[in-house]
Amino acid sequence: MRTVAVANHKGGSAKTTTTVNLAGALGEAGYDVLVIDMDPQGSASAWLGVPNPEVSVVDAIRGRDPLAHLIYETTAPGVHLVAASPDLVAVDRRGETDIALGFMRALERLPARWDVVLVDCPPSLGYLAIAPLTVCREALVPVEAHFMALAGVTSVVETMDQIKVRLNPSLRLGGVVACRVNRTLHARAVVARLEHRYQEAMLRTQVRESIRLAEAASYHLPITLYAPDSSGAEDYRALAAEMFEPALAPGRASRRIVVSALEPVEAAAPPAAPTPLERLKQLLRWGAGATGGDAVPEGTADGGASAPER
Ligand SMILES: Nc1ncnc2c1ncn2[C@@H]1O[C@H](COP(=O)(O)OP(=O)(O)OP(=O)(O)O)[C@@H](O)[C@H]1O
Ligand SMILES: [Mg+2]
Repeated sequence: MRTVAVANHKGGSAKTTTTVNLAGALGEAGYDVLVIDMDPQGSASAWLGVPNPEVSVVDAIRGRDPLAHLIYETTAPGVHLVAASPDLVAVDRRGETDIALGFMRALERLPARWDVVLVDCPPSLGYLAIAPLTVCREALVPVEAHFMALAGVTSVVETMDQIKVRLNPSLRLGGVVACRVNRTLHARAVVARLEHRYQEAMLRTQVRESIRLAEAASYHLPITLYAPDSSGAEDYRALAAEMFEPALAPGRASRRIVVSALEPVEAAAPPAAPTPLERLKQLLRWGAGATGGDAVPEGTADGGASAPER
């Protein structure tokens, strides 16, 4: 089970858009995904079709129920949700610590029933954003392709370094992904700077600016369902493939995401035993060869549906 905190302290950096649509793309590809909404605004919950939850992550944080008892189905196939609620906001410093610790305990006890857990973090440097980073194994940092957004990435990466040393040695930067990328020179310059600064951690996938993504939220659907052929759907599928392809190594070939971007399936699959139909074709080919021809007679081996083999 991969646990990924989608984090950036800067507001409006496409955290929720990335959480929901990466989840949608992974769900579409056959993954079991759990989204945990840690933002009191509840944007991811509403987007996934749970605007007014009766139970929320707060129940787990307070120890009333384990996370596994607070799960909602969503509008996205394969995607479950633990919703947020406004009472995630702490009233004092003590409350902040309790929330952070409560979340850490709750996530640690989550059964490994999901392939991927994505935590949508709120826009702050506070306890609500720190808590997921102290317990998740990786962080995904979406960043708007705008100069003003660069400081937010620096800040979250520095915070992660501190958390790694003090609280969570397993934490790694799973990737920085440029979002809202348009054709302007400005956007390209920002992406170039991010690539220079974050090198390996900078993901190749760029999420292009697309109004369809904003529309999808108002229809409470992931982009892969709302506009399956849009650039947004394409980009989030590509992000899913880039981040999760290594986990699809042997044994998980059936879950490959963007087949065209990977090795041909036939090359990866072990040679299968010939089916009765294939054996029949071989037999016919051999028979044809024995009589001087080399083609399968039309309309014999496969009912004439496909062209004769050569
Ligand atoms: N690729 C994109 N193309 C167009 N609009 C986008 C794209 N990505 C995000 N947006 C828009 O940018 C705004 C901010 O996105 P989003 O809510 O995902 O950011 P956030 O980081 O979760 O914000 P917050 O910090 O408030 O939680 C939204 O209006 C969203 O529709
Ligand atoms: Mg958000």
